[in-house]
Amino acid sequence: MKRIVIIGASSGIGRRIATDFARYGWRVGAAARNTEALTELKALYPDNIEYAGIDVTAPDVEKKLYDLIETIGGMDIILYCAGCGWYNPELDSEDDERTIAVNVGGMTKVCIAAYKYFRDTANVDKGRIAVITSVAGTKGLGVSAAYSASKSYQQKYLQALDQLAHIQHVNVGITDIRPGFVDTGLLKRTPARDLPMVMSLDYAAPRIELAILRGRRVATIDSRWAVVNTLWRMIPGCLWPHLQFKV
Ligand SMILES: NC(=O)c1ccc[n+]([C@@H]2O[C@H](COP(=O)([O-])OP(=O)(O)OC[C@H]3O[C@@H](n4cnc5c(N)ncnc54)[C@H](OP(=O)(O)O)[C@@H]3O)[C@@H](O)[C@H]2O)c1
Repeated sequence: MKRIVIIGASSGIGRRIATDFARYGWRVGAAARNTEALTELKALYPDNIEYAGIDVTAPDVEKKLYDLIETIGGMDIILYCAGCGWYNPELDSEDDERTIAVNVGGMTKVCIAAYKYFRDTANVDKGRIAVITSVAGTKGLGVSAAYSASKSYQQKYLQALDQLAHIQHVNVGITDIRPGFVDTGLLKRTPARDLPMVMSLDYAAPRIELAILRGRRVATIDSRWAVVNTLWRMIPGCLWPHLQFKV
């Protein structure tokens, strides 16, 4: 039986993917801070899901992650779905600090622990580290400065880790998933606005899962967002500050 650990599995994308993998017959190690939500998640597939209360900003992340891996009998894939932040035009510094702690600090700690696990301990053909980054990581977005910068960090970190794995002949694949807007609590916590091309979880989750299982290096979800992303990356730096992206 294959095993996946999902960090940030208590809601949104992570919860949905945890449920799907359990339904596909995988052993799932689900982690987040909200253990009540994780208890409810386990109740859906009690034989396949185990969980652990993990705060990725706490110093004991590595130990708790290794304990969870042991509980599910090893790990083939780890998916980092924990994330926060998004809309902060007022530049609230507490909000930005939380965003950096979870998206930058937490992801780095989890990736290091997972990389070392696959390098030193795992007994698998090929391990995989996947992270839900965002299309927002490809440009600096004025209304979400810390969020877009944190996602850019994640993308560069994954690219570097991929290269390191090749240099060190470590058998681990890296997957950087870049969704556009997905209808989850992350968007609902921002003021009501008409966001373009919002995807439902029913639509986005299978596409994310396929990208991970196919071992894609970078996957933009979906093709419409890939086009938008390609176009906006072509906009010259001198014009970018003048664009009125208010979403
Ligand atoms: N929704 C979108 O439009 C969209 C688009 C592109 C990328 N993304 C990315 O997708 C990822 C998942 O977001 P979502 O949309 O599914 O939002 P969500 O429903 O708010 O889920 C966020 C998850 O992160 C966990 N988390 C937050 N802080 C944590 C911490 N300190 N320690 C451990 N877990 C923590 C939350 O669990 P607890 O609160 O229980 O800890 C929750 O499970 C994020 O990285 C987000 O940036 C989302």
